[in-house]
Amino acid sequence: MSVTQSRSPHPGSSTPFVKVTLQSLQEKKRNRAPISAITAYDYATARLVDEASVDLVLVGDSLAMVMLGYESTLPVTMDEMVMLTRAVRRGVRRALLAADMPYASYHVEESEGVRNALRFMKEAGAEAIKVEGGRNRVSLVQRLTDAEIPVIGHLGLTPQSLHRMGGYRVQGKTVVAAEAMLDDAVALEAAGAALLVLEGIPREVAARITDALPIPTIGIGAGPDCDGQILVLHDAINLTFAPPAKFVRRYGDAAAIIRDAVEQYRKDVESGSFPSDAESYHLPAEVREHFQQSAARTRRKA
Ligand code: KIV
Repeated sequence: MSVTQSRSPHPGSSTPFVKVTLQSLQEKKRNRAPISAITAYDYATARLVDEASVDLVLVGDSLAMVMLGYESTLPVTMDEMVMLTRAVRRGVRRALLAADMPYASYHVEESEGVRNALRFMKEAGAEAIKVEGGRNRVSLVQRLTDAEIPVIGHLGLTPQSLHRMGGYRVQGKTVVAAEAMLDDAVALEAAGAALLVLEGIPREVAARITDALPIPTIGIGAGPDCDGQILVLHDAINLTFAPPAKFVRRYGDAAAIIRDAVEQYRKDVESGSFPSDAESYHLPAEVREHFQQSAARTRRKA
């Protein structure tokens, strides 16, 4: 069996697949075949997105907001990220699995950043990690790459820079800012980054960076000219309780499905129609007879 096919299919499925690797993603770029990526944060959604054959699953630190209810990505901790990445690992067989380094896990000491990235690889089974930032991350990216940790860079609207940016604003809108972002992208690739996420930037800038780099770019709010696209799953299926950003396309309404299902369940419980006899377990016939006789004896004695 080749290394690329070494993971068995999901339990209950016999559908064979070829494992996605960084190399197969790079080949997709060379062949101009679009790369599909999405976030997942637990076993169930991880398994569903993997069964839908996306190329890359990211345990994004966006989980701070959409799963844990924080107001930004800043508070989420390494322990929280590692725990949820482990759950996602159990659901992902085919896609490449990447995890986001949370805020403050690589901002103080580079060695601490490497140690934290190693936790994702060793404890959670991640195959790549993502860090936000440009030239200020070059030396960290080199050290991670030296430690055999594949790195995904992240440029543009980087949510961990929320307060420096003064809000979630499209980045790279001037010639100077766009050229600086291109320089950052080139520097990250030279340092060893294997992929690059481009978030919230004009499509023209994303197209130029994509054209300039040998590694794949994955866009989110960066237009159609990137080598691939990523969406936050909860944005795509309406589980965010907020109006979608301009770049989000809604592919389903999970909020409506859950609300309707739970409301119907509550009504069925309240009306007594759930559970029905068919939804109940029964004693075997011979036991039932003895049980009824013993109930009758108990009643006679009383
Ligand atoms: O945290 C996240 O979900 C991300 C994606 C938006 C790329 O970083």
